[in-house]
Amino acid sequence: MNKPIPYGKQNIDEDDIKAVLEVLKSDFLTTGPKIKEFEDELCRYLGVKYCVAVSNGTAALHLASLVLLNKEDKVITTPNSFLATSNAILYVGAKPVFVDICEDGNVDLDLCEEELKKDSSIKAIYAVHFSGNPINQEKLKHLRDSYGVKILEDCAHSLGANFEDIKAGSSANSDCSILSFHPVKHITTGEGGAITTNDEEIYEKLLELRTHGMVKNSSMKPWEYEMHSLGFNYRMTDFQAALGISQLKKLDIFVSKRKSLAKKYDEMFSGTFVKPLYGFKKNSSYHLYVLRVDFSKLNITKEQLFLKLREKNIALQLHYIPINKQPFYKNLGYGSEKTPIMDRYYEECFSLPMYPSLNVEEQEYVIKTLFEALNA
Ligand SMILES: Cc1ncc(COP(=O)(O)O)c(C=O)c1O
Repeated sequence: MNKPIPYGKQNIDEDDIKAVLEVLKSDFLTTGPKIKEFEDELCRYLGVKYCVAVSNGTAALHLASLVLLNKEDKVITTPNSFLATSNAILYVGAKPVFVDICEDGNVDLDLCEEELKKDSSIKAIYAVHFSGNPINQEKLKHLRDSYGVKILEDCAHSLGANFEDIKAGSSANSDCSILSFHPVKHITTGEGGAITTNDEEIYEKLLELRTHGMVKNSSMKPWEYEMHSLGFNYRMTDFQAALGISQLKKLDIFVSKRKSLAKKYDEMFSGTFVKPLYGFKKNSSYHLYVLRVDFSKLNITKEQLFLKLREKNIALQLHYIPINKQPFYKNLGYGSEKTPIMDRYYEECFSLPMYPSLNVEEQEYVIKTLFEALNA
């Protein structure tokens, strides 16, 4: 195969390009009408009251953390995520508490409860719906109701997923959810993110923080504004929002393509020594397709596998290196938590190409090349 096969990529069509061009020819490149339109469309799709579009998912996590947390707050989170999830806890001077994962890659909510029982000073949980597989919402609700903790759902992987009739990102059992529109995600705005909430006070605060902490109202003089908090410029541009609106129209098609790819991968690996992270889940939106292999039983290491497939133009990825074991976190005293499931998962996991435009021929080439390398 001459064309490189990445692990994830965007899907842009002529309608998307037209939507962006229209804004580029208009009066507003930023702070115009497309932002509110995109936010309203996301609210409608997700069934949530409020949405604030921002410059990326990390900015979304930062603003949500400024609203939800205080300095020194302890916050339970997962080692199995992109760095941004727990970095945002550190940004505001709060303290991540890493809890082990379940075999499906999501944080173990029973262990979270044990932690809450042991330590009543824990203030919040940051839960990631890893790979697009939604966390159990009933358990999340139970923890929120029983222990009074704040909940943030990191839905960077899970737009288009649902737990029964609850859509990931609807914040039905949480204070906030965050989304990312990076090109490998379900829809893209180049860089981009959003925070959703059903709480008006949180919403107002997020709007303020997105633009420097500035407040304007009708009783002020035309030029006047007041700064009420130390905010940021985390605004999304209007042409990005226009791309988001256009992409959102195709989200359900993108997710169903991802599910078809997952089904095909599942079928091809069924009964072999290559294990999908979980059996087919119709509620997962399959941001990632993760495999587990016990490399100690094979003649090839994970590093050799990555290099071999790279030679064949296939880019594998790994989600994730345990965050608590990163040098920066180790310097803060993390890294020795008991996380046996995460540790074994990290040894075994890698992610295969997964994006809507991956065609049958390419997917079959990935599977064939993978087996050739693993069986060598
Ligand atoms: C789980 C998770 N949270 C947050 C982020 C941060 O999003 P962004 O890259 O848009 O800043 C990512 C990005 O990959 C992610 O995977």
